[in-house]
Amino acid sequence: MSDSKRTYTDQELNAMSNDELARLGTELDGVTVAYRKARFPVANDPAEKRAVRAIYIWLAIGILAGIAFLGVYIFWPWQFQLLGDDNHMFHTLYTPLLGVTSGLSILGLGFAVVLYVKRIVPEEISVQRRHDGPSEEVDRRTITALLNDSWETSTLGRRKALQGLLGGAGILAGLVVVAPLGGMIKNPWKASELGIMGDGTLWTSGWTLHNEGVTLYLARDTGAIAEEHTGDSGTHWTTTGISRLVRVRAEDLDAGAMETVYPLTAEDANDGENYDPSRDVYENHMHSIHGPRNPVMLIRLRTADAEKAIEREGQEDFHYGDYYAYSKICTHIGCPTSLFEAQTNRILCPCHQSQFDALQYGKPIFGPAARALPQLPIEVDEEGYFVAKGNFIEPLGPAFWERTS
Ligand code: FES
Repeated sequence: MSDSKRTYTDQELNAMSNDELARLGTELDGVTVAYRKARFPVANDPAEKRAVRAIYIWLAIGILAGIAFLGVYIFWPWQFQLLGDDNHMFHTLYTPLLGVTSGLSILGLGFAVVLYVKRIVPEEISVQRRHDGPSEEVDRRTITALLNDSWETSTLGRRKALQGLLGGAGILAGLVVVAPLGGMIKNPWKASELGIMGDGTLWTSGWTLHNEGVTLYLARDTGAIAEEHTGDSGTHWTTTGISRLVRVRAEDLDAGAMETVYPLTAEDANDGENYDPSRDVYENHMHSIHGPRNPVMLIRLRTADAEKAIEREGQEDFHYGDYYAYSKICTHIGCPTSLFEAQTNRILCPCHQSQFDALQYGKPIFGPAARALPQLPIEVDEEGYFVAKGNFIEPLGPAFWERTS
């Protein structure tokens, strides 16, 4: 047994200086310090001051960027603004500013730590042999001494300003990571007024307006871009030649076709012979398109296929002839199930490849989705336009805690 491996009494350990305990610790751990050199052996070396100044600068950048991030996150006007609105520029800058400030905050701290280790902490090469088993008292005492030694040689103890800046930058970088989580704390059941986007809770969509007696047309998105116009009726947004949403008639779809449709109230319908370019309906149309659970796939099955369709119990009259309307929100985790494969009558979700059978009430037949796509009851009004015959009879999209089915 080497001398360092013998048992030490408390008196012997108490009598040792920190240096001696640190040296003993390295020996007990089988560590050999092959090389060690202080970066600045001479006090007040100008090079040391330059190195410390560079670290200060990076820490200050990190701190300022962290404060800027929190300022932007809390106070910046982030709400969506239409092109041409006064605050449109502020809105578009919100996300880039969050990215730049959070990046700088973390980079500032990172560069400072790297610089500190490379320029201030002594250069050292140590080699250690591994050993098994729990640590003995002597090991515990000596490791404490070694940590003390590291603290001393790092010179952080006497650099109070650096300690403060390092602490500040670390806290702010941590806040940069943690603070955005605050935006996720919301009450999903806090209902606002029911509108074309639902009432904000998970139970509702624009189609829920049907429960209040509102006529809802199935309308397709023309993609028309609105421009600001000032006319007799004042300044408003309108599209040229065609509305953003137009109502769909049965003859608009070929057999085997699929069209994505959104709810459109009679009040906001502005198409066909009654199209009036001066009417200001664009914003409401966009709200309908942006309603998170509003998109519906209107599918016209080929007649030969439709004859084989199997209806879900209680939903036998939800379709209109060969036309079926299914929610476009995947029941797995809510992607848009955008693909309809007419040859097989399958609806495909591109996110995780779930497949639903349009001939069997949107039942999942492949992939991770476990529930059928909810079906919207539809009919055609006296003018030939598709309208919702009712609201969906089950929640749309993926599962949530309170959901029982
Ligand atoms: S979200 Fe559709 S399969 Fe996952």
